[in-house]
Amino acid sequence: MAEVIIVHSKNDATKLAANIFVDVVRQKPNAVWGLATGSTPVMMYKHIANIVANDKIDISQVQGFALDEYVGLPKGHPESYTNFISKNVIKQIGLNPRKVHLPSGDMKYLATSGDDYEVKIKAAGGVDVQILGVGTDGHIGFNEPGSSLASRTRIKTLTEQTREDNSRFFNSIDEVPIHCITQGIGTIMDARHIVLLAFGENKSDAIVKAVEGSVTAASPASAIQLHPHVTIIVDDAAASKLRYRSYYKWAYLNKPKWQGI
Ligand code: F6R
Repeated sequence: MAEVIIVHSKNDATKLAANIFVDVVRQKPNAVWGLATGSTPVMMYKHIANIVANDKIDISQVQGFALDEYVGLPKGHPESYTNFISKNVIKQIGLNPRKVHLPSGDMKYLATSGDDYEVKIKAAGGVDVQILGVGTDGHIGFNEPGSSLASRTRIKTLTEQTREDNSRFFNSIDEVPIHCITQGIGTIMDARHIVLLAFGENKSDAIVKAVEGSVTAASPASAIQLHPHVTIIVDDAAASKLRYRSYYKWAYLNKPKWQGI
């Protein structure tokens, strides 16, 4: 079973996640981070930047691989994930831009960009720790319901629900791209440690299906039940529908220190 940690605030959750990311670098200076975009990990990246600066962590060898990118947004579009990663990860934390990668959403390279990305992740030695958010429809990366649990990086069509959810970042839903390129569920599952964050009541259905529902392509995040090392960090609202939430709290409270996260 995945470890479920229920905390009171987004700040506590993202601090915990940030420490997991930095600890990997303390143990392995050329660690490979799997990066998510969207609103969920923003505070985590801030905490990482603070820890790195305060503790003088050498991150010059750290590599990063983003989960996904919209297809067809013009270069430099403020809502492109390339722009998000540049601002929140490269500039804020100080990662070497040459070591940070995103799948290409450029129409010119679409036929090969999925396979090329898989090759790059493999050449880097695979992802050591992957941060994930979850969509209200249960997607991870942009693997919408129905995605193969064995899928690799490829083009996907966003659901109307996801386009509606993400329209808050654009002027209107019409500006939200219809297509994206995303690491597949199989690609994500290759990461050695997965940390999934979710906040707010509107994520509670996706969380209960991911953690306690059947493993099914209809709920892509449920695939994490098959992964040997998953840490789910949620606030009370996102955890509110979990049947075994008091057990998860009890287990975390009594977690032996030697076990780590
Ligand atoms: C982002 C990503 C998506 C988001 C999800 C939640 O790279 O792959 O799965 O994590 O759509 O988005 P937010 O965090 O904006 O609620």
